[in-house]
Amino acid sequence: MERADLEEIAQIATTYNLLIISDEVYSELTYETKHVSIAAIPGMLERTIFLNGFSKAFAMTGWRLGFAAGPRVIIDAMLKIHQYTMLCASSLSQWAALTALQEGFEFVAEMVNEYNQRRKLIVDGLRQIGLPCFKPKGAFYVFPSIQHTGMTSEEFCEQLLLEEKVAVVPGNAFGASGEGYIRCCYAASQAEIEEALERIDRFLRRRQLNRAATL
Ligand SMILES: Cc1ncc(COP(=O)(O)O)c(C=O)c1O
Repeated sequence: MERADLEEIAQIATTYNLLIISDEVYSELTYETKHVSIAAIPGMLERTIFLNGFSKAFAMTGWRLGFAAGPRVIIDAMLKIHQYTMLCASSLSQWAALTALQEGFEFVAEMVNEYNQRRKLIVDGLRQIGLPCFKPKGAFYVFPSIQHTGMTSEEFCEQLLLEEKVAVVPGNAFGASGEGYIRCCYAASQAEIEEALERIDRFLRRRQLNRAATL
C-alpha cells in the first residue's frame, strides 16, 4: 500500500480510536517503490500492532518464526496467552533468524532482484497468452482475470490442475470480488514459470478448440 492510502486509514483509526493490526510480512519484497509501515505515520505507533516474520524476506517458511511489536499493554496481554498455550519458537530457528538479520540483507537484495525478473516474466507472459494482469508492486503473486473464459475460478483451477498439473489458487478464496480471477505465485524458478505459462497457454488453446468443436 502507498503512503497516501495508509494516511487515510490512519485518519480513520484516529477518528474512531481504532487499533491497527498490520501484517507486513512482505515489507522487503517491494518493487519500484519503498515500503512504508503504517506504524511510521505520525500518531500510529501507539495504536499499531506490527507483525512480521522471516518466511518471505529470508525464504525461511519452514522455520516457523515471526514476531509482533506494539504497545506494551497489548504485547503483555498477547504474551500472557502465548506463553501458556505455546512453548516457544525453536532455538534453531531463532539462531538462524539472528544470522539472517546480521548477514542476510545482501541476499535479500539479490532475491528481490530475481523476483523482479520473475514478476516481469509472468506478467508479460500472462498478458501474451490473453490473461489480463495487473502488475503487482509487492510480494510474489499476480492475479490475472479469467473472466473471458466463461469458467468460474474454481472450475478453471481444478481443470488446469487435472489437465496440465499447474496449481493456482481460485480468486474466490480471497472473497466474492476475487471470482473471475486466479492467483499465481512466482516464488518458482524462471524456467518453471516459463513451463507453467506454456501449459496454461495449451490449456486455453485447447478450450477454444473444444468450444469451436461444440458449436
Ligand atoms: C500476508 C501473509 N502473512 C503471513 C504469512 C505467513 O507467513 P509464515 O510462513 O511466517 O506463517 C503469509 C504467507 O503466505 C502471508 O501471505
